[in-house]
Amino acid sequence: MEVKKIAVNETAQRVNEKTEQYLNTLVRAYDQVLGTLHLGGRKADYDDTNYEFVGGANDELRKKHYDKSLRLLWKAEQHASWSSFHDLSRDEEMLMKMADDALNESEKREVERIKTAEFKALLDREYTPAQKQAIVNILSLIGHGEAYAWLVSNEVLRDVKSTGAKAALTMQVLEEAKHFVVLRELIMAFGMEIPRLPVYEYVMLEGTLKAKGLEKFFGMNVLVEGIALSIFGALSKYPGLEVLQMFHLDESRHCALPTNYLKTQPLTWWEKNNPASMVKRFMMVLPAIPLAMKMEKDFAELGIDVFEFGGSLVRKVINLAYRVGFHLPLPQENMKAFVNYMFNAYCSATREGHNFREFLDAESTLGEAELAVEREVFGIAS
Ligand SMILES: [Fe+2]
Ligand SMILES: [Fe+2]
Repeated sequence: MEVKKIAVNETAQRVNEKTEQYLNTLVRAYDQVLGTLHLGGRKADYDDTNYEFVGGANDELRKKHYDKSLRLLWKAEQHASWSSFHDLSRDEEMLMKMADDALNESEKREVERIKTAEFKALLDREYTPAQKQAIVNILSLIGHGEAYAWLVSNEVLRDVKSTGAKAALTMQVLEEAKHFVVLRELIMAFGMEIPRLPVYEYVMLEGTLKAKGLEKFFGMNVLVEGIALSIFGALSKYPGLEVLQMFHLDESRHCALPTNYLKTQPLTWWEKNNPASMVKRFMMVLPAIPLAMKMEKDFAELGIDVFEFGGSLVRKVINLAYRVGFHLPLPQENMKAFVNYMFNAYCSATREGHNFREFLDAESTLGEAELAVEREVFGIAS
């Protein structure tokens, strides 16, 4: 490239250079001392000398989560065409239109059927008011949970090390934002009263948001997202709730994130086994038991035994927690037996002729595709 170079004062440049080097040494050393004394120091866990976040590149995690999230990125305008979202790009809109033109008349009617007002009419046709209220009660558990997932993943983004891990968490923040706003519209389309957070879930979510560092992974990516994954897996085959399959795919990736991250940055023996952390985790899990009891009526309205659902969920969550290294105060099998005992004790007291059952052997997720996704996340033992 032809440019006319401008002459500069070489002495001034040398002085500038030296001044910057001197100040740099001073500022960085000052921050380092403060950092070592835990009095502050540099806030960003960013390593500008190596042009990388502290922890390195971790391309493997980037490929498994960031790249995959972008490949599987779904748009509400396409999967919930009845909603108010307008998030398709011009190319995607064109593709949709071409696909639309290729439909025959009855197929077109089918597509139209699920748009806007028609969607609400479909819900009214398919469900009784009691069933609609039950779906809203169950889905709003996750709706409120998505708000916390958004906030928690944003904080974990700061706590994880490596460029790949930060890229992965950035996608989770984006996906949780989408989950919150899209699920909100889906729930509102039912036109029923939307309940507040039950206190048991409130305690669980607040505990997660307040948890220190990577313990947030346990509360959110293992426990809360495990619950979300199970609810999406149980309901995505219900009429009008097909979009939940997309949520199910995203949540499965979020559940797999601690496994993939901790493979590269393993927890120490103390982090896994220190009694205070184990008790804190147990206190986070415990409210799930009264929550299941509270939700029994709503699940029953939809033909689902809440303890079969809960058993299926607890098995998956406990398997995942121990595999990643988030140990609880009891050995894995005793932990499962304890939950099963609590479920059976409640059923003996409230259900006529109840016989002791292995609730943790149940499987509540419907659909081969969904089960295959979960097998990948929870391992063969699920
Ligand atoms: Fe989510
Ligand atoms: Fe999630």
